[in-house]
Amino acid sequence: MTHSDIRVIDLPDPRTDREHHVDPVAAEEFLRLYYTEKHLPDVDSRIAEVDRQIARTGCYRHTTSELEFGARVAWRNSARCIGRLYWNGLRLRDRRDTSNPDEVAEECVRHLREATRGGRIRSTITVFAADTADGPGPRIWNEQLIRYAGYLRPDDTVLGDPRNLAFTEFVRSLGWRPPAPRTRFDVLPLVVECPRGRLRWYSLPPDAVLEVPLSHPDLPWFSRLGLRWHAVPAISSMRLLIGGIQYAVAFNGTYMSSEVGCRNLADEGRYNLLPMLAERMGLPSDDDRTLWRDRTMVELTLAVQHSFTAAGVSITDHHTESRRFLMHLQRERASGRTCPADWSWIVPPISGSQTAVFHRYYDEPDNTTQPAFITPEPPLL
Ligand code: ARG
Repeated sequence: MTHSDIRVIDLPDPRTDREHHVDPVAAEEFLRLYYTEKHLPDVDSRIAEVDRQIARTGCYRHTTSELEFGARVAWRNSARCIGRLYWNGLRLRDRRDTSNPDEVAEECVRHLREATRGGRIRSTITVFAADTADGPGPRIWNEQLIRYAGYLRPDDTVLGDPRNLAFTEFVRSLGWRPPAPRTRFDVLPLVVECPRGRLRWYSLPPDAVLEVPLSHPDLPWFSRLGLRWHAVPAISSMRLLIGGIQYAVAFNGTYMSSEVGCRNLADEGRYNLLPMLAERMGLPSDDDRTLWRDRTMVELTLAVQHSFTAAGVSITDHHTESRRFLMHLQRERASGRTCPADWSWIVPPISGSQTAVFHRYYDEPDNTTQPAFITPEPPLL
C-alpha cells in the first residue's frame, strides 16, 4: 500500500453515539462461562478484578485466552453458520492495540495473506481495538475484505456485482478510481474509519487477493467465459461482542461451493449468470418447465467446486457440510449445550432435501446471547 492510495475525508456527521460503559453483568456472565468451560479455579477473584477495572475506567481488558475463547464461542453461537463443527479451531490474531487506520488496513492485508496460505485456507479472526469509555475503536466499512465493484451502465444494467453498487459509488466519492478498463471483477479498496469520523481508503495489494478462474470439468467453453471468484470469504462488517465489550474484527472461513455457484453468481440481484448459461447449454430459458434454472445452477456450482479444487484452494460442498453440521449438533448436545440454528440459512440453496439438515427443526436463536457476532444498527452503508 502506497501513500498515494490514501485519501482522507471528514464525515459530514461524525457518529457520536458510541460512548461506552461496559455492563458488569455481561462481563460476569462471560467470565463464568469461560471459567466453567475451561475448568479453571477461582472465577470470583477474576470477577472482582474486572468489576474494579470497570468501576475505574468504564471498561476492562480480556486476557488473550479469554479473547480467543470469546471469539470461538461467538462462532459457535452463529445460528446462520452451517460450518461450526470446527469452531474451537478458530485462529486468533490479537491486534487490540491497533486502531490507527493505516495499521488496521495493513493488518487486514496480513490477515488475508496468513489466512489464504496459498490456498490452504485457515479460519482466522483479527481483533482490533475495542470501543472503550475513552472513545470508539476503528470501523471497517467494507462488508468483506474482498468484494467486487459494481458499476451502473447508462442503460441501467450493471457491470460487476450489483450488491456493491452503493459501496462502489461511495469509494469513488472518496477518490478511488476504477481500473481501466473496468471489468466484472475489480477488487474494491478497503475503507477504514478512525475516530473523529475520518475515513481512509486503501487498495489491496494484488498478491493478498487469491482468485480462482472458473472452468467446468465437462464443458470446454466454460473457461472462456472469463469467470472467477475470490478464494477467501472474510467478513469485516460485523462486530464481536464478548462480555459487554465490542470489537472491530475481520474473520474468515472457507467457501462452500453453493455460496458462489447458487447465490453470488446466480441470484438475479447478483451476477445473474443463469440465463446466459442456459443459452450456452441450449436450454430454452423462456420455459420454466425445462428446469433450466436448476440445471444451470448445478453446473455452475460444479464449476466452482471443480475450479477451486484444481487450483488447490480449500472449498467444501453442501453435502459434506450438512453431515458435519449434524455431527456438530450431536457434539453440542453431548456437551450439555443447545445449538441455536436458523433453518433458512442452514439449509443449502440447492438440493436441500438431499441433505439431512433439511429434515428437522432447530433450537431458536436468542439475540441476546453473548459472545456473538453482531451486525451494527444501522449498517454503515
Ligand atoms: N456467503 C458469503 C459470500 O458468498 C460468505 C459468508 C461466509 N461464508 C463462509 N463460508 N464462511 O461471500
